[in-house]
Amino acid sequence: MKENVIFCYSGTGNCLDMAKNIAKSLGDTDIIMMRKYPAVTDVREAKRVGFIFPCYGGGLPGHVERYLHDIKVSPDAYTFGIAQCAAYKGEGLYKLNQLIPLDYWAAVSHQCTCIWLFPHDLTMPKMGAVESQARSEHFAEKFARDIKAGVKSKKKLGKALVNKAEHAAWPQIARKQGLTLKANDKCVMCGTCAKVCPMDNIRYAGKAVVFGDKCISCCACVQYCPQEAINFGKITEKRERYHNVNITVDDLNQEIISF
Ligand SMILES: Cc1cc2nc3c(=O)[nH]c(=O)nc-3n(C[C@H](O)[C@H](O)[C@H](O)COP(=O)(O)O)c2cc1C
Repeated sequence: MKENVIFCYSGTGNCLDMAKNIAKSLGDTDIIMMRKYPAVTDVREAKRVGFIFPCYGGGLPGHVERYLHDIKVSPDAYTFGIAQCAAYKGEGLYKLNQLIPLDYWAAVSHQCTCIWLFPHDLTMPKMGAVESQARSEHFAEKFARDIKAGVKSKKKLGKALVNKAEHAAWPQIARKQGLTLKANDKCVMCGTCAKVCPMDNIRYAGKAVVFGDKCISCCACVQYCPQEAINFGKITEKRERYHNVNITVDDLNQEIISF
């Protein structure tokens, strides 16, 4: 096992980009993806263990909370958690800290990928894609320096009660929104959407793309479709697409990325 392990969920690449930048600086690191059940959950041999994920509807994305229950970390390991969000970090870090106490935590604003709900530049402060990417890279360097130095966060993670209520309602909202997904006649059946869906919620039936009812609204199918052929109803038809500039569909589909 590598000296450092980073568990990462990423829908559209921002968090994986952050994880890769930190891993490059730390060296000797495995990034273990949490888009599906993690390939390794017992990391008691690792000296530093981190978690990087976005805020979805005020909390942890997809099945990440369920996966966190199975992850075994040495009580002697240095632990860190980083949440990427558009505007607010939500309750994700608090929940993680309850399960795996964190030495260090941080939240960083990046482009908002929830394309049906908000514009991409709903960031804190308001920023375009190039600026928020540069800022995220700057923070990755700072976090890696802090992690190497074993810095501990002084500020406590609060309960985030409003986000708790928001997140309780989120899975239903996301699922309902997912039922409005459709591919239009620009679709060339290239397979990208099915490949990038972390929920295996997209399949092909003859010449039709069929969306199931397990959507968590990560928006990866809409954002990565090379034809921009997938929309949530009519809401996203005229909206510009965004995914992290450095992260491909193949990157997102790795189980473990080693540095
Ligand atoms: C389904 C969904 C829900 C989101 N909910 C929130 C939220 O509640 N608060 C927030 O500040 N950002 C929210 N965001 C923005 C993401 O946290 C942000 O875009 C993040 O950088 C995405 O990371 P990723 O590209 O690694 O998936 C949401 C994005 C998506 C796709």
